[in-house]
Amino acid sequence: MFIKPASSLKGELPIPGDKSISHRSVMFGAIANGRTEVTHFLQGADCLSTISCFRRLGIEIENTKEHICIHGKGLHGLRPSKEALDAGNSGTTIRLISGILAGQPFSSVLDGDASIRRRPMKRIITPLREMGADLTGSGNDCAPLTINGSALHGIHYLSPVASAQVKSCILLAGLYADGQTSVTEPSVSRDHTERMLSAFGAQVTCRDTTASICPDPVLSGQKIEVPGDISSAAYFIAAALLVPNSEILIRNVGVNPTRDGILRAAGAMHANIKKYNEHTVSGEPVCDLLVTSSSLTGTVIEGSLIPALIDEIPVLAVMAAFADGTTVIRDAAELKVKESNRIDTVVSNLQKMGADVTATDDGMVIRGGRPLHYAVIDPQADHRIAMAFAVAGLCAEGGVEIDNAECVAISYPGFYRDLCGLSL
Ligand code: S3P
Repeated sequence: MFIKPASSLKGELPIPGDKSISHRSVMFGAIANGRTEVTHFLQGADCLSTISCFRRLGIEIENTKEHICIHGKGLHGLRPSKEALDAGNSGTTIRLISGILAGQPFSSVLDGDASIRRRPMKRIITPLREMGADLTGSGNDCAPLTINGSALHGIHYLSPVASAQVKSCILLAGLYADGQTSVTEPSVSRDHTERMLSAFGAQVTCRDTTASICPDPVLSGQKIEVPGDISSAAYFIAAALLVPNSEILIRNVGVNPTRDGILRAAGAMHANIKKYNEHTVSGEPVCDLLVTSSSLTGTVIEGSLIPALIDEIPVLAVMAAFADGTTVIRDAAELKVKESNRIDTVVSNLQKMGADVTATDDGMVIRGGRPLHYAVIDPQADHRIAMAFAVAGLCAEGGVEIDNAECVAISYPGFYRDLCGLSL
């Protein structure tokens, strides 16, 4: 896919549904009683993997484009799957479903694609075993995972990583435990599980960096409207800030404070982003964002801000390459265990385009302001790398060519169409 330089971006766009919230709507709908109806569901490949896993577990799910209906069977209504459950490329699918399956009265095998088979599963195996779960990984504690459902105990787990996938996995297993289950994180990760499970009827409490859940609630089907995904909006935010003479209105963006780090980091870089129409949709804060071209400056991105923008670091790095001054990204070693090693994929592709950037153990240092030029980008099948570098191409001399560009379908099937729709 060739992305040519743009002289201006103008217009309005609605952003597809939030990936994290779409996954959870299917999972919680499946273990609730009765119908859960979901609108603005993200039809990305990852969320379709979650739907296909729950169909295999005996749940009827209707899917008509943006509207889906899950016929939930309650906490104890899942049935064993004859075949392995395929999470595809989705870390959220494999890790959250593991928590649910650990407490079932049957055995399951969970697998995924080559990228999933490389990603660390010890982070869920350790706490689930502490709860009494019987699960094993393959090789170096990776997928495929074999889970023999068993009786679980409530625990208080001190997680070494701020990860919503780990936290959610443990809280979901906690639904099947014999007492309260708590997770304390080094800093707070996205809290969509806590918000949505409460709405379904679970007793969830959050205090500082600890989330707790009581077992055996009666969960009831809900109507859920999924907000637009701030992680998908991030590419358009960056593009409108970087391309001169741009002004775009992005409607219906989820701005949950555990997810809005991109807005805070962009603010520190002197980005001109205005929020309008702030309101709440299905328990999640949402607004419209008006983004205008800005002269960006370097910043430091670190500490408790990292979990609130972890998926936006590739595109923030692209913004930093065009900013005036140095940007330091640290405390972000988690980037190494995403769909690709995102420290390597971001740094190597930025260097190919002529940027002055150095990888560090837990992030990168970007000395911004050098003009970037044409390169062929290898996203290593990582959707967020492909989209971040499409944005870089809009501002690079000669544009960029993105190899295997179709990997964006993991989280944003219409990405190139939407980007072209705004470019002048
Ligand atoms: C997600 C949590 C994050 C994020 C991922 C989605 C979720 O992963 O990177 O894209 O839906 O819970 P970690 O929990 O591993 O940080």
